[in-house]
Amino acid sequence: MFIDAESLDAKSAYKLLIGSVIPRPIAWVSTESTDGIGNLAPISFFTVAGRKPPRISLSIQPRSDGVTLKDSFVNMRDTGEFVTHLATLPQVLPLHISASEFEPDEDEFDAIGLKKLPSLAVKPPRIEGAPIAFECVVDRIVPAPDGLNHMVIGRVVQFYIRTTSTCPAGGSTPVRWRPSAVWPPNTRWWTTPSCHHWTAKPSHTSPAAGCDGSTRTTRTTR
Ligand SMILES: Cc1cc2nc3c(=O)[nH]c(=O)nc-3n(C[C@H](O)[C@H](O)[C@H](O)COP(=O)(O)O)c2cc1C
Repeated sequence: MFIDAESLDAKSAYKLLIGSVIPRPIAWVSTESTDGIGNLAPISFFTVAGRKPPRISLSIQPRSDGVTLKDSFVNMRDTGEFVTHLATLPQVLPLHISASEFEPDEDEFDAIGLKKLPSLAVKPPRIEGAPIAFECVVDRIVPAPDGLNHMVIGRVVQFYIRTTSTCPAGGSTPVRWRPSAVWPPNTRWWTTPSCHHWTAKPSHTSPAAGCDGSTRTTRTTR
């Protein structure tokens, strides 16, 4: 089946996108207003976007009234800085609460009861307990034709990777840090990959190597 994207309304296009790209990791983004008020926002339209420089992208819609720009976006635009975290499965509840439309003068860390940790390279703080954080500066903002939706491209200037999350072979060990991701259509389905559900990269020369350095036979995704 082919579907003409140009003729689709936003909701139908959204459903095709989120039903195809699964599961979607969620960026848990901290920002600060120019007055220093902390803001948190989960963003599922998030992906890696470059290696050198390392870049990520976030797409941000207006608030539920359809016209007001979100505080998180306004903060990124006005300060040029933000921190993108990857949350663990146990952090899904505070992450969801942080999607509430708090008043701009309410610090969301305080409202939700999350502790701020200092970032190294940017002003917005890190979220305590988040195993991975990318401290970012705004590289560019790409507005949609309506002027209300925006893609923010961030350049990562500092990585925080909790050392117990690190894989000796490079990258991180998902089984250890229990990453969360959303799997539509029911956004309450969060996944934590386990070794039993991985399919190792095919290799003609050696058996699959696990992140713990061991070798194991390849198991197929069920
Ligand atoms: C799992 C999840 C994913 C979300 N993904 C997005 C997204 O990709 N883009 C977006 O604009 N809002 C997204 N939201 C909603 C924002 O998080 C929410 O509107 C924002 O935190 C509102 O607060 P603010 O005005 O303080 O920024 C998502 C919410 C949840 C719970």
